[in-house]
Amino acid sequence: MAQKIIFDTDPGIDDAMAILFALASPEIEVVGLTTVFGNVHTDLATRNALRLLEFAGRADIPVAHGAAKPLQIDFDEPAAFVHGENGLGEVYLPEPTTAPDPRPAAQFIVDMVMQHPGEITLAPVGPLTNIALALLLEPRIVERVAGVVLMGGAGAVNGNVNPAAEANIWHDPHAADRVFTAGWPITMLGLDVTMAVQMDDAYLAELRSSRTGEFIYDISRFYLEFHRQVHGVYACHTHDPSVIAYLIDPTLYTVEYGPIRVITEGIAMGMTLWDRRGEWHRPNPWTGRRSVGVCTGVDAERVLALYRERITGG
Ligand code: BDR
Ligand code: CA
Repeated sequence: MAQKIIFDTDPGIDDAMAILFALASPEIEVVGLTTVFGNVHTDLATRNALRLLEFAGRADIPVAHGAAKPLQIDFDEPAAFVHGENGLGEVYLPEPTTAPDPRPAAQFIVDMVMQHPGEITLAPVGPLTNIALALLLEPRIVERVAGVVLMGGAGAVNGNVNPAAEANIWHDPHAADRVFTAGWPITMLGLDVTMAVQMDDAYLAELRSSRTGEFIYDISRFYLEFHRQVHGVYACHTHDPSVIAYLIDPTLYTVEYGPIRVITEGIAMGMTLWDRRGEWHRPNPWTGRRSVGVCTGVDAERVLALYRERITGG
């Protein structure tokens, strides 16, 4: 049976690449997209989510409009230099003709999880604000989800906003700390593994044999230019699609365990500080917290092969 997921997203080029991957994968049933600020403001994230579903012929999937700002800090600004002014690499899909679900994202998450106990995996690939708000609305979702599998953070490597912080966690560290310490089963696909899988220009060109792949190639132009300027490679990191790859086939990844706390202020704000030791001479804020599964290794070739197969259909 397909795994039911709620994909919480700020589309976003790699978000779009992940959504189209999920929709092309029979192992996954997307029961809803929930939107959040991050790569773009939430209004645009919602319109992009609707656009992408219409492009894929899946306007039957609900989109719930989410938080417009972090729990306790200000929203810095959208990442137009990474994803383009429109969030999709300056490739313009038509205005959506469909409308979002009337419920706010956090309420949508609570309703779906409570209606389908044990069945829904939350798959956030943006700031964790909607997930934290859902926890505040209905704490019992901790026992009712199948799990949380997220893109964000950095286990044993530097961040990408600064040495400490990865972008999704940095945007709302207070929400992220709530999510990492809620006590539910949680797996983190952080920069340790998402930067280890690179889609280069030749790989992206191969995707063009399908209509979906042609679109992914087109939106990747802007993203490759950003990676060239900032990372010195003409290839893009595979951030958000990694969550879908993990859900389809967890054997693609090596997972290690330990509790995570998120630093919420100071120069390390947004750092996912992971306890890999576990043994201390006195209790600390990590003691007694449920372990997070942190992906530390990945079979990049197999992830790329899986993505290509699903996007090109062959
Ligand atoms: C994360 O930040 C966003 O720019 C991407 O969509 C991804 O979710 C990578 O740090
Ligand atoms: Ca994202």
